[in-house]
Amino acid sequence: MLGIDLQGKRALVAGVADDGGLGFGIAKALAEAGASVCVGTWPPALGIFEKLLRLGRLEQSSRFESGEGALAFERVYPLDADFDTDADMPPELRENKRYRELGDVSVQGLRDRLVKDFGEQPLDIVVHSLANGPEVKKPLLETSRKGYLSASSTSAYSYVSLVQNLGPLVRPGGSFIALTYIAADRVIAGYGGGMSSAKAALESDTRTLAFEAGRKWGHRVNTISAGPYASRAASAIGFIGKMIAYTTTNSPLPEPITAREVGAAAAFLASPLASGITGHVLYVDKGYHAMGAPAEIP
Ligand SMILES: NC(=O)c1ccc[n+]([C@@H]2O[C@H](COP(=O)([O-])OP(=O)(O)OC[C@H]3O[C@@H](n4cnc5c(N)ncnc54)[C@H](O)[C@@H]3O)[C@@H](O)[C@H]2O)c1
Repeated sequence: MLGIDLQGKRALVAGVADDGGLGFGIAKALAEAGASVCVGTWPPALGIFEKLLRLGRLEQSSRFESGEGALAFERVYPLDADFDTDADMPPELRENKRYRELGDVSVQGLRDRLVKDFGEQPLDIVVHSLANGPEVKKPLLETSRKGYLSASSTSAYSYVSLVQNLGPLVRPGGSFIALTYIAADRVIAGYGGGMSSAKAALESDTRTLAFEAGRKWGHRVNTISAGPYASRAASAIGFIGKMIAYTTTNSPLPEPITAREVGAAAAFLASPLASGITGHVLYVDKGYHAMGAPAEIP
């Protein structure tokens, strides 16, 4: 039988802070395929996430679909993917109450914690499931330089930084995966603040990183373009319900995507079954990307 088997592999999923996002669905699918899973969580969301875990509030959603077993994180690391090194952090942020007890929360800090906990080459799979654009509600025409660069820094450069810093920690045959959105190459009105530009950069970087990391380490670098999904981040943009309704009506498969479907696609991409796939943007969107006009016109 040709199955997805990730036993003996370790994944780091960056961008999990509750059970309502795509990162959680991916973490669960990877664990269900046998991988051990560590997560990187943004410091402002870490306290609540740890409390949810402590109180057992995620037990139900952590259960495997098979009914047997459940997702349990091997480690929950603090990670602010805006910073490559501790020295990059502004002093006032380091003094912030959500940061000051946590030590080095930069990407290099994450790298050092992984090496300390598990040794020099502890990883097989790295998932980038994070994004932030402070001006996402503003049209590009009204977006400031600061807001645009911030969206790119958090949502695109952070993937470059993860591949740069964690590449040497990933064992041969390793796999990097990031999450993107169709706004990278089509106009999605309302997805503003430079977020569409950041996703375009993320997809372009996926191709270049695939070449460079492939030649340097033999790693694969891919991106999943997910259809709209009502995560915490997407709900904050304000019109996710309308987007889901619109794409559901107008997709070849007229139903919303699930985190399970995105997770299963990630588990496949992370597995040896996808050893020939790199530099790719894989749409998991019920086929919406293939449409050129709304479904009801004929
Ligand atoms: N939800 C959708 O409709 C949709 C569609 C396509 C792609 N995506 C992408 O999927 C990924 C996951 O988003 P989601 O929608 O599941 O929402 P989510 O809220 O579950 O995930 C976003 C995560 O990013 C984290 N984050 C923000 N800034 C950070 C930083 N500086 N450092 C570290 N972490 C930070 C947040 O704490 C959060 O956990 C994002 O890249 C998003 O753009 C989402």
